[in-house]
Amino acid sequence: MEEGFPSDRLRAWYRQNARDLPWRRTQDPWAILVAEVVLQQTRVEQAIPYFERILARFPTPETLAAAPLEELLRLWQGLGYYRRAEHLWRAAGAIAREGFPRTYAGLLRLPGLGPYTAGAVASIAFGEPVPAVDGNVRRVLARYHARERPGAAWLRDRAAALVDPRDPGTWNQALIELGATLCTPSRPACRACPLRRGCRGRDDPTRYPAPRRRRTREWRLAALVLLGRRGVVLEARPRGPWAGLFGPPMDEDEGRLLARFGLTPGTVRFLGEVRHPLSHRRVRVRVFLAGTERDGEDPAARPLSALARRVLALAQEALGEA
Ligand code: ADE
Repeated sequence: MEEGFPSDRLRAWYRQNARDLPWRRTQDPWAILVAEVVLQQTRVEQAIPYFERILARFPTPETLAAAPLEELLRLWQGLGYYRRAEHLWRAAGAIAREGFPRTYAGLLRLPGLGPYTAGAVASIAFGEPVPAVDGNVRRVLARYHARERPGAAWLRDRAAALVDPRDPGTWNQALIELGATLCTPSRPACRACPLRRGCRGRDDPTRYPAPRRRRTREWRLAALVLLGRRGVVLEARPRGPWAGLFGPPMDEDEGRLLARFGLTPGTVRFLGEVRHPLSHRRVRVRVFLAGTERDGEDPAARPLSALARRVLALAQEALGEA
């Protein structure tokens, strides 16, 4: 273990302050895996109802492996990063065939499990003394050591040196908890922090780690809400951020989108724009409305992205006013 790090203080703090979260009340590796996949890129408060619904419907990997991916996607609606759902579904298939991997190395071979998730499940469910460095832990360690640009190998080494071999799952969750509740990105509560004594970043905590340079580009799309004799025309998204979900036809090229349905700008109604944030870019969607002789379908029966819902809501609003 690393010299000087106030581990006992962190453990004592966590014993007193750990939030009572549903995945902390179980030892079931499947439940813990589901939780950690849902928690990737997602805040705890948002994750809880999804975790509970997914586990209620799919209490074992076998139940998920036996269901179509679409059923999981329907439960995943609104959570974003839908590739995670596909990965979890494929992981369930692998577990149903080959059994649950009980080691970090074995977990890392499951689809969609990177070093963080494999480390979290190995330590929490199986007690293996491996680190689990998520964004919270990265921030805590970068601040403690006053590192503006902590590299992946440096982080892994620091975190590995700290893991408590007696209870690695609790240790890893304590570090995560500290980052999520006290050592927060913009207003860290340093006065209440159990690590403040040794923390080299405490005089200027928000300097560490430096923000990652990220291009937020704008992605312009057009969407077409086509009202059929019954329902609305929906398409499966073959790829991209909404792969596997359904929504009104969309295209980067407005003319091409309309032409695909035999329409021109003169035969559709422009409803307005929907702006929608994704992780690395903002989407801006121009929404058009038209009627069609085709049969549509009921959007409630399909897994929809949050963006598709907003596009449909805009059309609903326009129709309400008409
Ligand atoms: N974020 C990722 N894993 C977590 C966990 N086990 N508890 C709370 N927040 C988390």
